[in-house]
Amino acid sequence: MSRIENQRRLFLELVELLRPHWHRDPGQPQRLADWLARHRAGSRDRRLYRELTYTLWRILPWVEDASPDTLVARVAQHAQRSKATADFIDAYAMEAAGMASPTASLLPPWIDEELACDSRVESSLLSRAPLWIRQQSGDATAVKRDFPQAEPSRHIDNAWRLPMDTRVFDTPGYRNGVIEIQDIGSQALLHCLPELPAGRWLDACAGAGGKTLQLAQLLSYRPDSEIVAHDVRPAALRELEQRRKRAGMTSISTTLEPTGSFDVVLVDAPCTGSGTWRRAPHLKWTTNPNSIRRAAEKQSLLLDRFSQRVKPGGWLVYLTCSLCRSENESVRTDFLTRHPAFQPLPINHPRTQAVVEDGYLTLNPWELDSDGYFVAAMRRI
Ligand SMILES: C[S@@+](CC[C@H](N)C(=O)[O-])C[C@H]1O[C@@H](n2cnc3c(N)ncnc32)[C@H](O)[C@@H]1O
Repeated sequence: MSRIENQRRLFLELVELLRPHWHRDPGQPQRLADWLARHRAGSRDRRLYRELTYTLWRILPWVEDASPDTLVARVAQHAQRSKATADFIDAYAMEAAGMASPTASLLPPWIDEELACDSRVESSLLSRAPLWIRQQSGDATAVKRDFPQAEPSRHIDNAWRLPMDTRVFDTPGYRNGVIEIQDIGSQALLHCLPELPAGRWLDACAGAGGKTLQLAQLLSYRPDSEIVAHDVRPAALRELEQRRKRAGMTSISTTLEPTGSFDVVLVDAPCTGSGTWRRAPHLKWTTNPNSIRRAAEKQSLLLDRFSQRVKPGGWLVYLTCSLCRSENESVRTDFLTRHPAFQPLPINHPRTQAVVEDGYLTLNPWELDSDGYFVAAMRRI
């Protein structure tokens, strides 16, 4: 069996392993990672199988009931060409040329109930997201040295776009904490706030601290500010501690049990991740009205809980990486109805700088070539 035939055989083995999980398990990337580890795949093969699998998730309705030959041909036809994939594409994509073009939608059937999916939103959701980094210091020297091809964003300070396959982790700038990988949409969210007040901040769902580190950098000129980072996952907080040390940020502390009250509370809530389909296309097929409803229930509970930590006059900022109305506008409206002590806080659109008086906005993926996000700001009276 030739090398390419063996790759085809192994890819089909992987497809059968993932098949029972296509519509159920949001953790499929871990299954892919485990499979690659079991097969001791080298770096080029890893890139090949990752690209084939992500392509398969992107075009699932076009291949899930297809024969193995058709599946391989269509995946090869839509995979992105690179050194790792070129031979596979050349060997199998031609077979797709004579096949009828599939017509099934590549977005889930419930989409229109949850988001205003005009053609710009639809085409951006179906394309791949670029790689963005954030410069974690005021000095761009490290970015220019490590990534001569990096392009600065026109809209968000310190955001740089890199060519898709750039290796970031091996660079001195990343190792020294001067560069962080962070989608530009995620970077844009803090720029929506009318200002970044000094005082006590609670990052209530901090995870491994993507936004915590950015916030610490943005507040670094205000020595009278401190950031308490909380999450329910101790492992995430340990990772945050390491990143904090690497970046030399002393204003951040981590805790599993936040106490006291805060001037600003960020609730970057767990969500269905429907704004991240450009990077995580498998979530298109594991998200459904039930998982959206469950996410919205949890989001409401988190807002109820953490809003109690906002000082009078302080701010509550609700964020998701979802585009679903049920997780965004509906959760916000419901919260404001149940908590009359909170009122909308006007915010700024990060691309146009227009003031948004209602205090909330959806950042669609086409606007900054990013993932999709929602932000809502409220003030406690
Ligand atoms: C969208 S992620 C946060 C991403 C992070 N803020 C960043 O910028 O990288 C949501 C986080 O909420 C955390 N979470 C889930 N349930 C929680 C709870 N009850 N209290 C606090 N955090 C929770 C999850 O562990 C996860 O890290």
